[in-house]
Amino acid sequence: MSVTIKSEHEIELMREAGRILAVVHDEMAKIIRPGISTMDINRKGEEVIRSFGCIPSFLNYNGYPAAICVSVNDEVVHGIPDKKRILQEGDIVSLDAGVIYKGYQSDSARTHAVGEISEEDQRLIDITKQSFFEGIKFAKAGNHLFEISKAIQNFVEDNGYSVVRDLVGHGIGTQLHEEPQVPNFKPIGRGMKLRPGMTLAIEPMVNAGAFEVWVLEDDWTVVTRDSMKSAHYENTVLITDGEPELLSYNVDLI
Ligand code: MF3
Ligand code: CO
Repeated sequence: MSVTIKSEHEIELMREAGRILAVVHDEMAKIIRPGISTMDINRKGEEVIRSFGCIPSFLNYNGYPAAICVSVNDEVVHGIPDKKRILQEGDIVSLDAGVIYKGYQSDSARTHAVGEISEEDQRLIDITKQSFFEGIKFAKAGNHLFEISKAIQNFVEDNGYSVVRDLVGHGIGTQLHEEPQVPNFKPIGRGMKLRPGMTLAIEPMVNAGAFEVWVLEDDWTVVTRDSMKSAHYENTVLITDGEPELLSYNVDLI
């Protein structure tokens, strides 16, 4: 499938999906504290998604067994919720969620502190989020895709961290993963020209140490090879002739 340009009607549905997803994240964030399990977060997320009549897009996607990806500390993404995995004070936890509203998708991720965390870990979370905002400065019709990638990579590396290369962002619409791939590092070339109506899930995954990752025996959980921490931040973004519109972001929420 090639890159899809969304109509105004489709964009309106994606806006609603994104607004709902922002609430899902906000509700999950509210329950995060030491002592809860990663399954508790999944349960809350799924409950809120369904309360809006939406479908959790990750559930059963390529066999993924839950609604929310919950990734703790050195887990980069795709952590599987587990009632025995209890969050501890000082952990960081990345929550990745996707909803389908009337056939249209939104996908976003946030990384949270569990109780009090170190300054160092807070900085990792902050730089990861900021790298997304550095990237989307270039998310504008007429620019080329890898300008976004390059801006994210430069910002992350200038701050002493590394970007994961084995996983990338993606186009999104009626499908969770559409073309194009959106790397968080600059490949050769400049990538496709951005056009109004393109919708992209831009999602830097940032490691405190080296960029290399591997996958655990469960075939899902991606962890850093050096066991250092990792953070994730993602929004579904609409390309326009002017400023990008962040479909899954609400300034009043998280
Ligand atoms: N947000 C992730 C992505 O963009 C998570 C999807 S993985 C899933 O690919 F399998 F859990 F759906
Ligand atoms: Co995504």
